[in-house]
Amino acid sequence: MHMEPSKKLSLEPYKGTRDFYPEDQFIQNYIFSVWRKVAESYGYVEYNSSILEETDLYRAKSGEEIVNEQTYNFRDRGDRDVTIRPEMTPTVARMVARKRKELSFPLRWFSIPNLWRYERPQRGRLREHWQLNVDMFGVDSLAADVELISVGYDVMKAFGAPNDSFQIRVNSRKFLNFFADSYLGISPEQKHKIFKLIDKMHKMPAKEFEQAGAEILGDAFGKLEQVISMRDALSLPADLQDTDGVADILNVISSLRRKGITNAVFDPSLMRGFDYYTGVVFELYDANPANPRALSGGGRYDDLVGIFGVEKVPGAGFGMGDVTVADFLETHQLLPEYKATAKLYVCHTDGYIEQANQLATDLRKQGVNVASDLTDRKVAAQVKTADKQKIPFVVVVGEEETKSGTYQVKSLSDGTEHRAAIAQIADIIKD
Ligand code: HAM
Repeated sequence: MHMEPSKKLSLEPYKGTRDFYPEDQFIQNYIFSVWRKVAESYGYVEYNSSILEETDLYRAKSGEEIVNEQTYNFRDRGDRDVTIRPEMTPTVARMVARKRKELSFPLRWFSIPNLWRYERPQRGRLREHWQLNVDMFGVDSLAADVELISVGYDVMKAFGAPNDSFQIRVNSRKFLNFFADSYLGISPEQKHKIFKLIDKMHKMPAKEFEQAGAEILGDAFGKLEQVISMRDALSLPADLQDTDGVADILNVISSLRRKGITNAVFDPSLMRGFDYYTGVVFELYDANPANPRALSGGGRYDDLVGIFGVEKVPGAGFGMGDVTVADFLETHQLLPEYKATAKLYVCHTDGYIEQANQLATDLRKQGVNVASDLTDRKVAAQVKTADKQKIPFVVVVGEEETKSGTYQVKSLSDGTEHRAAIAQIADIIKD
């Protein structure tokens, strides 16, 4: 490898990505395990795919912003335009379309892919994140939307989140389309622009939003502003209230309420960036303003599978990111305490390393996670390693232990000691 002799290699991971040191990986494993447990509790089954897709897949329906500004693209040696997946939905729709005939619907599928977006890194936004994707195919009724929102809710509950620590915001593309096309009567171009603007409104000063909005819509902007600031669908103007979109929203919120989920609200300013949504859309938000980014987002996309030239399959689902979830857990002090994988650290006095290793081997056969110190340092230094690495128990193997076949097992958290033969050690150190 050729390198400039004077240029130091950077110690930093690539911009917007993370190194996962064991403490970080521990948290990520915890998040994934909760995601998996809750998805499986509803019968969702896991799938995956490659991180690479042909760029055309995203051109079709994700939306211009994602393809033009946020993807990692390259041309491969065979002249194909390749994109590193920025989201999983086009991939899962492709996979469903590919086996449309063989699959038995309805499908409940989940995945935990890593995704890449070329964003400006900031709190809650990185260039690589992992995202739980939970999707249902083959059910066109609101029962599916309600179940999917419930899965997201149950995930939050499984993390220990109290009801008032997060909020579910619900809107509908059907409502938004009616609102723009019929109620405001604006052109498709105006609609596109104003929806993009509303999508960004919470990230800009109110004044700036108003100026830009009035520029796009003229007089109609006042009417729009009034409606998008409402949080109760029942106070909408009568000709908006009597629409399928609003009926869907009310139906979803009341179904959730009947299931005991009371933190769902109507939010007419909720846009969702992707072009493929066709019905109800929703997002989960941290109630603490320290974390202003959505914890999860999703919705119904009944036309996506059909773009592959197969018969349509209705779909709905959501994605929940590991970055925003970790921020949430930290803010609400719900992060689990780090634990090493080893339960016991076997130390040894001079000359007894082999016996120590033998004890470790015997205990592993009993299913105990054991690490053995392989250095010739003093016992105190060996014990200190166990303590620093958060291994909860230590045992020291020396002449006496070897002769008697009994061992002094010490807890590093409370200092208690137990003398035990091998057969009892597993019992002493279990949680
Ligand atoms: P999304 O809203 O783009 O939706 O992403 C879903 C969640 O992933 C966000 O709420 C956030 O938690 C996390 N996320 C997204 N981008 C980033 C990022 N750059 N850094 C950290 N976290 C991020 C979708 O991706 C849809 N495909 C979800 C879906 C599934 N819709 C239907 N099925």
